[in-house]
Amino acid sequence: MLVDGYGRKITYLRISLTERCNFRCQYCMPEKPFSWKPNENLLSFDELFQFVKVAIDEGITKIRLTGGEPTLRADLDRFIKMIYDYKPDIDLAMTTNGYLLKEIAKDLKAAGLKRLNISLDSLRPETAARIAGKDVLSNVIAGIEAALEAGFQVKINMVPLKGVNDDEIVDILEWCRERGIQVRFIEYMENVHAHSDLVGMHGREILEPIRSRYKIERVGRQGSSPAFLYRIKEDGYLFGLIDPHKHDFCESCNRIRLTAEGYLIPCLYFDEAMSIKEAVRAGDIPRAVEILRQVLANKPKENRWSEEGSPSSNRAFYETGG
Ligand code: GTP
Ligand code: 5AD
Ligand code: SF4
Repeated sequence: MLVDGYGRKITYLRISLTERCNFRCQYCMPEKPFSWKPNENLLSFDELFQFVKVAIDEGITKIRLTGGEPTLRADLDRFIKMIYDYKPDIDLAMTTNGYLLKEIAKDLKAAGLKRLNISLDSLRPETAARIAGKDVLSNVIAGIEAALEAGFQVKINMVPLKGVNDDEIVDILEWCRERGIQVRFIEYMENVHAHSDLVGMHGREILEPIRSRYKIERVGRQGSSPAFLYRIKEDGYLFGLIDPHKHDFCESCNRIRLTAEGYLIPCLYFDEAMSIKEAVRAGDIPRAVEILRQVLANKPKENRWSEEGSPSSNRAFYETGG
């Protein structure tokens, strides 16, 4: 069993497969970074799998592939199949911008991937392009449809931004509700890599337009999920709010993050990290597990967003895996 310094059981491994992305979202990567990490610095799928196997043996029950954009990694379905074949009952999920899904959704499903969380920030082509840095909407919608057709459980992530897409909260909720997909509204998380003009919305501001349209009731958090769920009374539709500024989900955090370069990161906003790359490349998996335990012993009590101060980490979300 994996337990951190505060007694929290760690069962959820988020693996960022690449920092690279085909979008330039304003809140994440408005400019292409000066340079990408060279591909030879990344752990190969075979190397990653050596670590994944022991992580599963130690008690990981949920794995989410993230990025950057994970679908940019060649042979993604091969990696998924390796994990699935090792532990078919693992909760195996991926977070993606959906742009390439139309072509690959079926293969990912066949390989053993079970759930997809897809970003959808606007239903207006111009606004979607303004946020992502290029015309993306038709591909993203086609990707969501392909994912549903392939039989995935799908959730939608939306980051409302003042003066950009804040007038679309109800539209996106409606769009998802009609399709029986859960939407989660995410408070914009300030970071030094984002566009400096962005103004996010507080959870209560996000709920306002929804409350003025529907009667809603608080449901609660499901397990260790960062999303707090609400229910529309009329038909029971559930949607979520992810409000890291409140950081009350940290108490039950069950997550550890691994980057494409092999850094184990104990929390989304925490500079300290340790690399398992050398150990894995030397075939010394017990050493990698030792490093994992050290990182967990060092996992902070809560993330570093607060109402007052701006967070202090320089690490980009596209590196950490969101
Ligand atoms: P489910 O497995 O469906 O519950 O997905 P998830 O919410 O764990 O994953 P997803 O990648 O969709 O994350 C949604 C949002 O929550 C992203 O913006 C993440 O950055 C944010 N998030 C996830 N984990 C953490 C965390 O530990 N701390 C903070 N502050 N935000 C997080
Ligand atoms: N604030 C809030 N959410 C963010 N995401 C990426 N960057 C930020 C940010 N600065 C979200 C994306 C995606 C998920 C992985 O993280 O919308 O759905
Ligand atoms: Fe790419 Fe996701 Fe970052 Fe957008 S939020 S730039 S899709 S990694």
